[in-house]
Amino acid sequence: MRNVLIIGSGISGMACALRCAGQGIHVTLAAPFPSERSQSVMAAGGINAVLPLPETGDSVASHIEDTLKGGCGLGGRKAVTGLCQHAGEILDYLKSIGTVFSVDDEGRPLARAFGGQSHKRTYYCGASTGKQIVSALVMETRRYEGQGMIERRLWCCFHSALIRDGVCYGALLFDEARGGLEAVYADAVVIATGGQNALFGKTTGSTQCDGYTAGKLFMQGAELKNLEFIQYHPTTLETAQKRMLISEAARGEGGRLYYTSGGRSIYFMEEKYGPGGNLMTRDVIAREMDALDEKVWLDISFLDRDLIDRRLPEVRDLCAKYGGIDVTCQPIPVEPSVHFFMGGLAVHLNHETNIHNLFAVGECASMYHGANRLGGNSLLAAIYSGNVAADAIAARKDVCIAGREGKGPAHPDFDADLNRQRDLLASDRDTKSLFPVMYVRDMLAETMQKQLGIVRSEDNLLKGLDEIDYYLDIAGKLHYDNSVMPYFNYSLQGILTLARATMTCALSRRESRGAHNRSDYPKADASCQSATIISYDDRNYKVRLDEEGYYES
Ligand code: FUM
Repeated sequence: MRNVLIIGSGISGMACALRCAGQGIHVTLAAPFPSERSQSVMAAGGINAVLPLPETGDSVASHIEDTLKGGCGLGGRKAVTGLCQHAGEILDYLKSIGTVFSVDDEGRPLARAFGGQSHKRTYYCGASTGKQIVSALVMETRRYEGQGMIERRLWCCFHSALIRDGVCYGALLFDEARGGLEAVYADAVVIATGGQNALFGKTTGSTQCDGYTAGKLFMQGAELKNLEFIQYHPTTLETAQKRMLISEAARGEGGRLYYTSGGRSIYFMEEKYGPGGNLMTRDVIAREMDALDEKVWLDISFLDRDLIDRRLPEVRDLCAKYGGIDVTCQPIPVEPSVHFFMGGLAVHLNHETNIHNLFAVGECASMYHGANRLGGNSLLAAIYSGNVAADAIAARKDVCIAGREGKGPAHPDFDADLNRQRDLLASDRDTKSLFPVMYVRDMLAETMQKQLGIVRSEDNLLKGLDEIDYYLDIAGKLHYDNSVMPYFNYSLQGILTLARATMTCALSRRESRGAHNRSDYPKADASCQSATIISYDDRNYKVRLDEEGYYES
């Protein structure tokens, strides 16, 4: 039987696992935490789809056009068409496995208005769409676990991929519970590790998502795409631990952004963009907020209390719990914060990277969203991409030997590799470094926030590159830090490399488009309307524009 190794067990990883298992492929589903603790559970807003409800006036064609427009010319039409055409069927599937979507008094599904959409098409599960979908997928994976078709490997972190001659044969995993490195061989490896929030410290996402896998794979030859497009969500609330997301649903239900001047409330988005101003795409609103030297508030206090209780209970509870704010009579202080990464591992339409048998799905793969993602499209893309990769793997004829064996190294080199990595992890444990590993991570987050903000310039970006080079230099001299998990020791170099690649892409894109804004190149340049591809060759970072559309074909 064929064996697939999926790294990451959030929504995209589970969707891929289920689709593989359903086609008779054995799945090893490895992750450092249970699915219930993946970042997917934080997705509150909803999932986009066009249902066959003629009264809405919506169509799949509109969903495609809105998504392409939101992506500012960088979302591939073929990929986006597939995504939107399958959305209704994905919603039906989610319902069939027990996801309970919110409905009106007549039992019809309720849809929200989200930014950049011509119609209400974001379907939701009360306050917690991500959580509900995760629960349903977990229940479904249990059925296959019972049949031995899905094997969960908990407390396992990605270390590196086993690649020879451009083909991936499996991965080295670090087992935190047992405390050792292990080679897992597979016919195909699917990366489903989410975005790179931790590069930026406090964001709306999980610090578990640190981009290490993408950074390490980049060092191993995988190409990365569109790293400069980083979505700042306009409405987040500062708390001690993280930036709490105040869902776009609040504006979808009528919430208004304003600042005060001379005792007056200035509804700046409505003044500039008209009645739909509060639901412009996230890149536009974040840029407008960044340009203001004012404290911005989100007001939903004028909404019917019953509507807040029924449709926005998460916003109500979150503001009360973390900000002591009663949203029924007080405005919410909001600021933009890093939320989503449109960039990541470069993949073809079938979600395979430039390394044969190495796939990437969900947020860690760059696909569909171009220069800016629309709210509600990420849960959809997570499931759809998992399905696409699974189908591509199922259709593949050239099964690799190592994977078929399912155990033991097929290549003696891998043994040597494994032993070398084991030695590296074991060495040096008794000496203390001047800079502990976590301190370097904190310094990096400060650099990323400061030099790669909503608006960038060549000066910022060059400074950012200098700072990251300094951290890379420190990282090369660090001794093993016993006070943190081994993962934090071996992951530092990969994370810093990804940060350097991101800064390099932002520097090379000399225009403003979507979520990438350059004060020194404030306009979009038609000659740059292609994806940025970056590759790594013995510490050299090579950037090119994908003018031929290599990754969309
Ligand atoms: O604002 C939100 O609820 C976020 C949703 C999303 O990123 O898709």
